[in-house]
Amino acid sequence: MRLTLGPGTHLLVLTGAGVSAESGVPTFRGGGGLWESRPVEQVASPQGFDRDPETVWRFYSARREKLASVGPNPGHVALAEVEKRLGDRFLLVTQNVDGLHRQAGSERIVELHGNILESRCDSCHRLPFFDDASYDTVPRCDECGRGRLRPAVVWFGEMLDPAHLHRVETFINEAPAGDWVFLAVGTSGAVYPAAGLVLQSRSAGGATWLVNVDPPDNRAAFEHFVQGPSGEILPRLFEWSRSGPPLTPS
Ligand code: OAD
Repeated sequence: MRLTLGPGTHLLVLTGAGVSAESGVPTFRGGGGLWESRPVEQVASPQGFDRDPETVWRFYSARREKLASVGPNPGHVALAEVEKRLGDRFLLVTQNVDGLHRQAGSERIVELHGNILESRCDSCHRLPFFDDASYDTVPRCDECGRGRLRPAVVWFGEMLDPAHLHRVETFINEAPAGDWVFLAVGTSGAVYPAAGLVLQSRSAGGATWLVNVDPPDNRAAFEHFVQGPSGEILPRLFEWSRSGPPLTPS
């Protein structure tokens, strides 16, 4: 099954951990997932950080170290290539914090849950900054001298950046009626607001596609489902039409 993009088609892509699985980055849910062996709240909530910040930093430091040895896979590259052709008619929203889309060349990107290679202060208003260091004790903020540094990722119970949500809303609102597509890749659809984008896109007139290795719980929300690993599917998914109906799902 191929997704045909016409000369005016807009494409909104949402990715989750599955798109990085073939790079060797573990997913969150399911066998071998990061949440299988530890309670989410322990390492991914402000309460967990208050209770035991060393454990939180050890968890994120191990993930940072792992990232040093992985790179983008053909799925990331395919999305960067489709962006080059579509330009401003393309937006990539990712729940991933691994930075692999940027490494592959994606530029029109919203990192909804932040970036693991950035830190911020839990006390002052210093902007998130690049930080690939590993810590087993809690680093102090050297700007305010009071706060503790923490990974600049969004934890459970925290607000997403309203500017990020606004950018996605604007893209949906400006997409041409009948000629735009929402494509989700490698996400279980378990975490909102990202999981709500499929229904929002449907009600705004987008065609909805899903690429995933298994049918996730929200599979029925999508009109088209292509089953398989994204590193194999995405490089073959898109085809380009210069005329005729903008979308020809089969
Ligand atoms: P999940 O781990 O929940 O889901 C990953 C999905 O990718 C599953 O449906 C897998 O079947 C699928 N998958 C695995 N390998 C794949 C492959 N090679 N190709 C295609 N699909 C594949 O990850 P997310 O949906 O990204 O949030 O999780 C959403 C959020 O929950 C994360 O951003 C994180 C987590 O808690 C925070 O930390 C705030």
